[in-house]
Amino acid sequence: MKFFVDTADTAEIRELAATGLLDGVTTNPTLIHKSGRKFLEVVEEICGIVDGPVSAEVVALDHETMMKEAEILRKIADNVCIKVPLTIDGLKTCKALTDDGTQVNVTLCFSANQALLAAKAGATFISPFVGRHDDNGFDGLALIEDIRLIYDNYSFGTEILAASLRHPIHVLDCAKIGADVITAPPAVIKMLSKHVLTDKGLEGFAADWAKTGQTIL
Ligand code: G3P
Repeated sequence: MKFFVDTADTAEIRELAATGLLDGVTTNPTLIHKSGRKFLEVVEEICGIVDGPVSAEVVALDHETMMKEAEILRKIADNVCIKVPLTIDGLKTCKALTDDGTQVNVTLCFSANQALLAAKAGATFISPFVGRHDDNGFDGLALIEDIRLIYDNYSFGTEILAASLRHPIHVLDCAKIGADVITAPPAVIKMLSKHVLTDKGLEGFAADWAKTGQTIL
């Protein structure tokens, strides 16, 4: 399973990239706003930190303008992945861009039928929003299961990028279901390494090691 981080905070991205565990980055207009930085500039910096796909989202709602925005974004770096919304215009843009060899992440997916359309439009990634689905009284993980089943039925190559993940159990469940990629905020990714018994075990070993009076170096 690939790990993407959902942020436009380059310090956080550098820290996670240094672990060697990071496969890509997702951004959205809200995260760009939160960064307080210029969109094109921050995307260029992120593309220089990670080798994997960096999702940069168009903001237009019509196909023609989406294509013009995508033209600017994809020139930033080879690893830019254009993020388009799950609308008819977004799907049309997805088809045009993927036919032209550009990676596309279709975002704001809230149904398996929407995911089916994205796969037919040649999407590189489909982004079902698990947390926001849950927030609205639906079952976000059941959505991931349905998409997995449908994509496997027809051997679609589109990768399921489980987004809007809020806690480590979301990540665990997505791994069990077989999501291809997860994207989560830096704090959630860091939490995956935590366990109270790991901390307790380390304390015990450190205390006993000190009693030996030895050093390794
Ligand atoms: O980037 C898309 C998605 O991960 C947003 O998550 O927490 O704003 O629902 P959230």
